[in-house]
Amino acid sequence: MTIQTPKTERLTLLGSTGSIGDSTLDVVARHPQRFSIFALTAHRNGAKLAEQCLRFAPEWAVVGDAATAQQLETTLRAAGSRTQVAYGEAALLSAASDAQCDTVVAAIVGAAGLKPTLAAARAGKRILLANKEALVMSGALFMDAVRDHGATLLPVDSEHNAIFQCLPAGPQPHGGVTKITLTASGGPFRTREPATLEAVTPDEACAHPNWVMGRKISVDSATMMNKGLEVIEAHWLFGLPPDRIDVLIHPQSVIHSMVSYADGSVLAQLGRPDMRTPIAHALAFPGRIDSGVASLDLVEIAKLTFEHPDYQRFPCLKLAFDALRQGGNASAVLNAANEIAVEAFLERRIGFMRIAAVVAGVLARIPNSAAGSLDDVFETDAQARRYAGEEIARLGAGALAG
Ligand SMILES: NC(=O)c1ccc[n+]([C@@H]2O[C@H](COP(=O)([O-])OP(=O)(O)OC[C@H]3O[C@@H](n4cnc5c(N)ncnc54)[C@H](OP(=O)(O)O)[C@@H]3O)[C@@H](O)[C@H]2O)c1
Repeated sequence: MTIQTPKTERLTLLGSTGSIGDSTLDVVARHPQRFSIFALTAHRNGAKLAEQCLRFAPEWAVVGDAATAQQLETTLRAAGSRTQVAYGEAALLSAASDAQCDTVVAAIVGAAGLKPTLAAARAGKRILLANKEALVMSGALFMDAVRDHGATLLPVDSEHNAIFQCLPAGPQPHGGVTKITLTASGGPFRTREPATLEAVTPDEACAHPNWVMGRKISVDSATMMNKGLEVIEAHWLFGLPPDRIDVLIHPQSVIHSMVSYADGSVLAQLGRPDMRTPIAHALAFPGRIDSGVASLDLVEIAKLTFEHPDYQRFPCLKLAFDALRQGGNASAVLNAANEIAVEAFLERRIGFMRIAAVVAGVLARIPNSAAGSLDDVFETDAQARRYAGEEIARLGAGALAG
């Protein structure tokens, strides 16, 4: 008699070398009987990807360019690894859509994640979505692809995962939901004197009080553009209009989001600010598995506080709500302009408060139109990036001394 080893769930992890990638692999490593890795992908960090390949032995490792692939190949062969190496867009799309992969964790940062995540949707995969920018850019098109190809979309962003857990069943809200409330920590500048914000450094902006994350999302948290992108993400995931999506600042980051019902009930999901919890929830859904995160000690926390966001301090949040209300291509414009502005801030080419000014400037220049096809989305994205470069050149000159 032969004993059959139960089949593991085979994962492709897009963006494995990032912060979400690390947290996902930490959870996966706790459950070797349940999960195995089909493909790991990175952009240029071949050294970290090599370490991950040696530990998790994927079939495929994918990087962005030939030189990184060559180095990775050399390292892996020298260590006796059998992982195959590939590079470029076509390889990334196949890693996301290959028939041998069951689940795709979408954890690339920014617009670069859209094509592979969409490829996973079109291949009918189970998708664990962290890459909110993909959904912000392509909203209806992405959700249509999920529906038309029978894919399953599970939110990993902690707020959306919290809402998903508090809804009656499945990602679409059922009767009785009156509103959802996304909580936000308020980031590192919640109480800082507004007049001093223009001069903050990238390291200060990336020093988040509660979460450890990649640099782009850390800056987005400091401007609260991250919450704005999440409002748009929530609209598409849960099918609610903007006036039924609320944002509350909750500096302790213990309540990750809430759902209000017609009978006065409010359901909230609580936990430590550790992405392994929503990742483990989505990986095991509808079951529950150990994530390595300790449970909460509410007595130790003692106090939970809430306040309304101040649009003067956080103009990016208002820009995102406005873009969602406008519809059409406005969210794609917002996202692209923000990516370029954040990059310029991280490279110290513009001051912190000019991120919002660049985004507002680009939104004002691009007429609103329907985002009818993926080509339209990428055309808008490219135009917004070009205009953002021009706004940076105009606004940024002399922004930073020394
Ligand atoms: N971090 C969090 O706690 C958190 C929470 C909720 C949602 N999210 C969302 O999850 C996504 C990832 O965030 P993160 O904080 O993990 O970002 P990160 O630490 O910056 O990691 C980004 C990952 O994407 C890869 N990448 C970057 N540019 C790429 C490109 N052009 N093509 C292909 N791959 C590329 C990077 O590869 P290299 O390392 O080779 O550059 C890395 O693996 C973002 O959309 C973010 O909004 C993050």
